[in-house]
Amino acid sequence: MRLGLICLLGTTVLVGGCNDLPGKPPPNPAPVIPANTSAGFEAIYAERCAGCHGNNGVLGAARPMRDADYLQSIPRETLFAVTRNGVPGTRMPQMGGDAVDPIPDDVLHKFIEGMVDTWGVLKPGEPRPSRGIAWKHVPGSGDASRGAAIFEAKCVYCHPAQMKASAAYDLDRPGTVTDPLVVGSVVDPFYLRLVSDQHLRSSVVYGRADLGMPGAAGPFRSPDGKEVAEPLDAEAVADLVAYMISFRDEWPTRAEKKDGAP
Ligand code: HEC
Ligand code: HEC
Repeated sequence: MRLGLICLLGTTVLVGGCNDLPGKPPPNPAPVIPANTSAGFEAIYAERCAGCHGNNGVLGAARPMRDADYLQSIPRETLFAVTRNGVPGTRMPQMGGDAVDPIPDDVLHKFIEGMVDTWGVLKPGEPRPSRGIAWKHVPGSGDASRGAAIFEAKCVYCHPAQMKASAAYDLDRPGTVTDPLVVGSVVDPFYLRLVSDQHLRSSVVYGRADLGMPGAAGPFRSPDGKEVAEPLDAEAVADLVAYMISFRDEWPTRAEKKDGAP
């Protein structure tokens, strides 16, 4: 009590106040949870990734990170590099290096470790939507005309170029989509300028289980909405990506580049 009173009086005239009293131990620093633990990586994820990749790793605008098949396929070093350096020309920001308020490299390595160890564990016998097809997009691979045929047979029902062309669109009640699986176009040049070629490939290989997008294992939809079980192989994935990319040719202005880079 008395010390407190002295201190209270003291602080009015002395700079520094009670924290500088000789012999007083420093306040405990906030405990730092190691980033390679489940709680540690989740704290960083919530602060730095959740806004775009979704709370708890799902249902964001950008692809889910809580996807064991995906985290098992993308090499750890690539996961580190993409997170550290971002994806130029897209909304994936640089998170390390000379970014503003960077995550230091050693913390980032642990963060990746924590994420893969927590969200990247496949249960024994768990089906893999990717069927083990590799993560990496190889520029120039695939055949756009073969991709067009596959797209027509398996994708167009859910991704009509215009909603009206879809069987799931109720022509008697314009503006009503009768099937919630029907989503927007993925061959729209305005969409394609927001995402990289790799993003298109990752979407096709792993799908988005959180939103109902099948991975390479399917099942897909025929143009009239029937289920198509036949899966995609690696060649078909490359063909589909080549097909989607080909729509970047219809670029709205001459000043912008086809690959989405600034
Ligand atoms: C059963 C319906 C369905 C089928 C079949 C389907 N998709 Fe999708 N697709 C979705 C849904 C749902 C999403 C998530 C949309 C969102 O992000 O809101 C999606 C997302 C995507 C995206 C990523 C969009 C983004 O978020 O940037 C791409 C690319 C894509 N699909 C391509 C394809 C291709 C190629 C095929 C055929 C092999 C295909 N889809 C088949 C339903 C489907
Ligand atoms: C401002 C939004 C935003 C934030 C914040 C963000 N991302 Fe992303 N991220 C994106 C977008 C958009 C893409 C797709 C980029 C593209 O088109 O390739 C992406 C792509 C990625 C990819 C590559 C996905 C693929 O195509 O295989 C990884 C990995 C990734 N982000 C991890 C992270 C991690 C980890 C964090 C947090 C430390 C994070 N991101 C924070 C928006 C964001």
